[in-house]
Amino acid sequence: MTAKVSTRKFDVVIVGAGGSGMRASLQLARAGLNVAVLSKVFPTRSHTVAAQGGIGASLGNMSEDNWHYHFYDTVKGSDWLGDQDAIEFMCREAPKVVYELEHFGMPFDRNADGTIYQRPFGGHTANYGEKPVQRACAAADRTGHAMLHTLYQQNVKARTQFFVEWMALDLIRDAEGDVVGVTALEMETGDVHILQGKTVLLATGGAGRIFAASTNAFINTGDGLGMAARAGIPLEDMEFWQFHPTGVHNAGVLLTEGCRGEGAILRNANGERFMERYAPTLKDLAPRDFVSRCMDQEIKEGRGCGPNKDYINLDMTHLGADTIAKRLPSVLEIGHNFANVDITKEPIPVVPTIHYQMGGIPTNIHGQVVAPKNGNPNEIINGLYAVGECACVSVHGANRLGTNSLLDLLVFGRAAGNHLVAADLGKRSHKALPADAADRSLARLARLDNSTSGEYAQDVANDLRAAMQQHAGVFRTQAMLDQGVAKIAEIAQRVKNITLKDKSKVFNTARIEALEVENLIEAAQATIVSAAARKESRGAHTVNDYGDTPAHPNGRNDEEWMKHTLWYSEGNRLDYKPVNLKPLTVESVPPKVRTF
Ligand code: FUM
Repeated sequence: MTAKVSTRKFDVVIVGAGGSGMRASLQLARAGLNVAVLSKVFPTRSHTVAAQGGIGASLGNMSEDNWHYHFYDTVKGSDWLGDQDAIEFMCREAPKVVYELEHFGMPFDRNADGTIYQRPFGGHTANYGEKPVQRACAAADRTGHAMLHTLYQQNVKARTQFFVEWMALDLIRDAEGDVVGVTALEMETGDVHILQGKTVLLATGGAGRIFAASTNAFINTGDGLGMAARAGIPLEDMEFWQFHPTGVHNAGVLLTEGCRGEGAILRNANGERFMERYAPTLKDLAPRDFVSRCMDQEIKEGRGCGPNKDYINLDMTHLGADTIAKRLPSVLEIGHNFANVDITKEPIPVVPTIHYQMGGIPTNIHGQVVAPKNGNPNEIINGLYAVGECACVSVHGANRLGTNSLLDLLVFGRAAGNHLVAADLGKRSHKALPADAADRSLARLARLDNSTSGEYAQDVANDLRAAMQQHAGVFRTQAMLDQGVAKIAEIAQRVKNITLKDKSKVFNTARIEALEVENLIEAAQATIVSAAARKESRGAHTVNDYGDTPAHPNGRNDEEWMKHTLWYSEGNRLDYKPVNLKPLTVESVPPKVRTF
């Protein structure tokens, strides 16, 4: 079959043009390497564009700070599931990558003395949890937008080659298991191509669209996860999904945590600032997993707002119109457009909404993809890197702190780029493509093109999203998770029977959607199977059956469950590997109970 498919050769093929993909490509293109970046959308429309509140870095511009505090907060935020070597690396590198971005032309907000403006964010503290710190480097509430445009401009200057509206389909592995390229669909023509690379770097973002109510873009269908899973690579810690506390009620659109950083307050139906009861020190700026649970608790106990008592009010009326216009201009617009609310005059209804996938494709701190082999839990898979939300390095563990996502993109995109430059790829030749390089992708497309009956992709996808929303929510129960496993397994069978009515090739979005569902199902199965197996509560995985006990405060069971989950698509099976509690240079932060 391969003979029908054109092949193009590059030093590095990057899949995804968001913050991490473009930070990596910039490093590579500047070093003179031949880099291709594939993207389903125009690069500046990648999901990074939706990030609002800021990039975490201990610059200390507005309050005393240093990377040790950031490191401590991130370990604690992760509920001790994050790998401390990776967390140290990220927090130490943070100021460097932010200043670099500033020098690339990033339009950060400024203080009167010209330094970068920083706002407080959830879970970020000074002096090891004592008080909130101003660590989020912000460009109003459009930080991701500004960052993506800055990186795109630098990439154009460095002559990165973009393949816009190309969807990567499958990884190509040779007989030794090395990754030697990807297959991809050119949406404009419907043709399949092989992009051969000395290395492939996945930067495809998360799979937030496995849930019905999500702050994620429609493109976030877990394409890199699907590609990895089908190629036999495990997915790590997929049970951990972050609910952002402030998605607009009934719309799902994100209202940045920067609102609370600027002083916004969460109130229940009685007008009470209830977070004071749950988190006396950090209040509304406790980490997201904690705040989301408190909101859910208020609603469950009948103190939700509105006629159905099913949301919480986010109150910004005391901030003043000038501060809102200056610091939160997009939030002002979102209030008008999605809730018909003038946030300068009245509170806006919010609910916890799916926002971020903590797990992903397992990597080391250089971005190299790793998997267990011959007794080594972290054996490198040659020719494959992953960075950003699709990767699990793991700096976020069981719960990510806000602003550490944009930071992760910059730090590990850059680190992967540097590692590849040091590998002197320019001097190496391409490994040969296997004879069946494109067969898997061609067979997937042929099945759709030859189908005469079956279900439509959108119907199957809608059922998948509804099932995930119902069975893997803010509070989980073992019974709900077990039922979810069975439901998603049924939906997986239905995915095999998806049909395509319109068989045309040119910009056939129905074909794209059908291919995306094959990725969504891998992410959904990984999530629900991993979650049902983890018999404890930790971070964003809170299961009512595993509650607070003297032996296991907050339901966390370190003796049995301080370990990373690995899910394999083949056989829908699980494996585990240890958490790295050893930082690179400093002392480990020993596990303790999380209070705020
Ligand atoms: O709330 C926000 O602005 C989101 C930031 C993040 O997810 O890091």
